[in-house]
Amino acid sequence: MRKIIVAIDGYSACGKSTTAKEVARILGYRYIDSGAMYRAVTYYFQQHHIALSNPREVDRALKNIKVTFKINSKGISETYLQGLNVEDPIRSMAVSHEVSQVSTLKPVREAMVAQQRKLGKQKGIVMDGRDIGTVVFPEADVKVFFTADLLVRAFRRQRELLDKETLIEVDTIIDNLVERDKIDSSRTESPLKKADGASTIDTTHITIDEQVDEVVRLAVAAMIRA
Ligand code: DC
Repeated sequence: MRKIIVAIDGYSACGKSTTAKEVARILGYRYIDSGAMYRAVTYYFQQHHIALSNPREVDRALKNIKVTFKINSKGISETYLQGLNVEDPIRSMAVSHEVSQVSTLKPVREAMVAQQRKLGKQKGIVMDGRDIGTVVFPEADVKVFFTADLLVRAFRRQRELLDKETLIEVDTIIDNLVERDKIDSSRTESPLKKADGASTIDTTHITIDEQVDEVVRLAVAAMIRA
């Protein structure tokens, strides 16, 4: 069967990554978390004290940054920066607070989009993010747009952080989600919006299994059409 590209976009903490990972596993496809790439860049900038207002510093840093993914012993994809596993630090609140700001920068987006397109060249990929169906792969065979109620998203993110033994008050998480939604949707470069032809999935009242089933159903239909 011909391999396809599945593009999943939407707001933070709507269940995109959880769904995308499982869909990729079922289809036997590669999963790429594009948000992790922007998080890794943000973490690098923080570690190297890169001034976002200095385009030369940003460009020099971007030439140096190497973000890769490796599958761990449990079959889960993890993010590496300069060859080091950064899966935990890139999920910290310190990175969450700055990542949307870093993601507004044109050179950052150009560098990441180029890498993402390379990763999708062979197809057989499920990628999630904010601009996958609109900018990275506008020709994707399946495009999905995830939304969910803000409070549900905040509690889900809180649970994810708790699983990593970090307790953050739900109000702090809500503030961060609202702030990121605003920056992600209103930026000039590749703002978050529903792609033409995308199917909306509201995950407020459905289970992860239902989300996964819906995307797999869309993917299989696209494979049959292809
Ligand atoms: O999916 P996430 O919450 O881990 O993404 C972190 C941030 O990265 C998000 O607030 C905006 C940015 N991002 C982006 O600008 N474009 C993407 N394709 C993916 C993420």
